[in-house]
Amino acid sequence: MTDTTTESAEAQPEAADLTVEEQRRASLLAKLADLDAEHAKAVAGGGDKYIERHHKRGKLLPRERIELLIDEGSAFLELSPLAGWGSDFTVGASTVCGIGVIEGVECMISANDPTVKGGASNPWTLKKTFRAAQIAQENNLPQISLVESAGADLPTQKEIFIPGGKIFRDLARASGRRQPTIALVFGNSTAGGAYVPGLSDYTVMVKEQAKVFLAGPPLVKMATGEETDDEELGGAEMHARISGLADYLAEDERDAIRIGRRIVARLNWKKASPESRVYAEPAFSADSLLDLIPTDLKEPFDPRDVIVRIVDGVSADNEVPFDEFKPLYGSSLTTGWAKLHGRPIGILANAQGVLFSEEAQKATQFIQLANAKNTPLLFLHNTTGYMVGKEYEQGGIIKHGAAMINAVSNSTVPHISVLIGSSYGAGNYGMNGRAYDPRFLFTWPNAKSAVMGPAQLAGVLSIVSRAAAEAKGKEYDEEGDAGMRAFVENMVEEQSLPYVLSGMLYDDGVIDPRDTRTILGIAFSAIDTVPTEGTDRFGVFRM
Ligand code: COA
Repeated sequence: MTDTTTESAEAQPEAADLTVEEQRRASLLAKLADLDAEHAKAVAGGGDKYIERHHKRGKLLPRERIELLIDEGSAFLELSPLAGWGSDFTVGASTVCGIGVIEGVECMISANDPTVKGGASNPWTLKKTFRAAQIAQENNLPQISLVESAGADLPTQKEIFIPGGKIFRDLARASGRRQPTIALVFGNSTAGGAYVPGLSDYTVMVKEQAKVFLAGPPLVKMATGEETDDEELGGAEMHARISGLADYLAEDERDAIRIGRRIVARLNWKKASPESRVYAEPAFSADSLLDLIPTDLKEPFDPRDVIVRIVDGVSADNEVPFDEFKPLYGSSLTTGWAKLHGRPIGILANAQGVLFSEEAQKATQFIQLANAKNTPLLFLHNTTGYMVGKEYEQGGIIKHGAAMINAVSNSTVPHISVLIGSSYGAGNYGMNGRAYDPRFLFTWPNAKSAVMGPAQLAGVLSIVSRAAAEAKGKEYDEEGDAGMRAFVENMVEEQSLPYVLSGMLYDDGVIDPRDTRTILGIAFSAIDTVPTEGTDRFGVFRM
């Protein structure tokens, strides 16, 4: 969203001459330039050769199709763009998924990228598609599939054939709960892929391009000896006039997109809450976040500085941006109420570091309060986890942390998490990490997440190995230990990085901190498609 290339490309002065703010800005901009480069890989899809061939065939790329499909000038919130990062597959996993507004309706759009292995689905494509379907389901968004795919990635068929059936089951269930499903077929949709148009509520096929059949001509010849061709077996004309699988025959790609927009316009779709809201922009620029956020996670920063740059500013009736709750208690967790694009939210933000019993109890109470007033929650992660040590164990840190995890797990108001710094250990769980199913989870490029910090993990392994050697009466190999520590530290450091986690679909995207407010605005608006209802039914809280 925000362009980082111009500023980062400028020559940077020597670090020693820079103020702390300037150093932080330079360091974060360098990370953002890296992020741009990784995103560019997803946009490049199968590369120049395949993009050129695709254009020469008179076809549009997936992002071009999406751009024409959504309302002019509206934003598209792309999700999981780095899926498959670090794997053998192309970054982005041969599909583009995200939330876009069509005729004023927020929709989940998924588009195969035919420049990557013909748009074939690999294991990461599957994970990304499942995640998009989950987001669409939880937020009741109409689902639009822009289809042009070679079906299963054949070399990895064993990893995708069986679980892949869920795609079709999900489409059928979406239709069953009256969540509309629309397929715009631009090209090949073979074998299992034929069930995407087959199971969608509405199907549009592009003349002389769409090819939808259970088996193509060569396989039919092999199976039954019948001689046939693409058009009579699965062409758009045939499906529109003979089989009835196509509800609409489109003249070309732009016509298919026009018809798709008309279908959405006729859905008679209504959101749970009013569409337009009045709100004030924050008093501080989003750009100033770059001066505040250290890329060295050991350096503390005040989450209130982040909050006032994300939430709405002072409203016309002089409502303050952030009403802090329990400011004097459990000070390493900031909690409070605000509005984002006019929608009331509760915020839990770590003030750099450890969660003690007080913080856990404060979080538990705050989550209950949000449920009591049907208010969604935003979790801003920057924690090294729950406090360890004799004093804290005896003080009941486990039961207090468990109460917080209980509250997060059973809370029924929507949650969004953003990793703005560290997210380590059970702190990741208590702050609503991926396993706790926040509706959306985004990561800043400076963030890291793991069971514990790399040095701590390597140190623990070393202590355990030393004790094991002593127990066997063996001399400890100090040189080997140093090598092991360095190796493990490097490995965990790498595994904690945002690209690795995003590549594995442990978040919905690594985002530029300056885009956080806009992205959260889109996400909270999508959430608002269904009414927010809190609960008073939590599990047993240990006292
Ligand atoms: N799995 C893995 N790789 C595939 C693939 C698949 N299902 N389908 C195509 N590819 C690869 C091709 O081998 C080719 O690789 P290369 O460029 O490295 O040689 C690349 O993707 C592009 O394919 P290509 O055939 O050149 O693209 P196209 O646009 O001309 O044709 C299809 C696209 C889909 C018509 C054609 O690739 C095809 O028929 N694929 C098989 C479809 C099928 O029967 N799938 C079974 C699904 S269960």
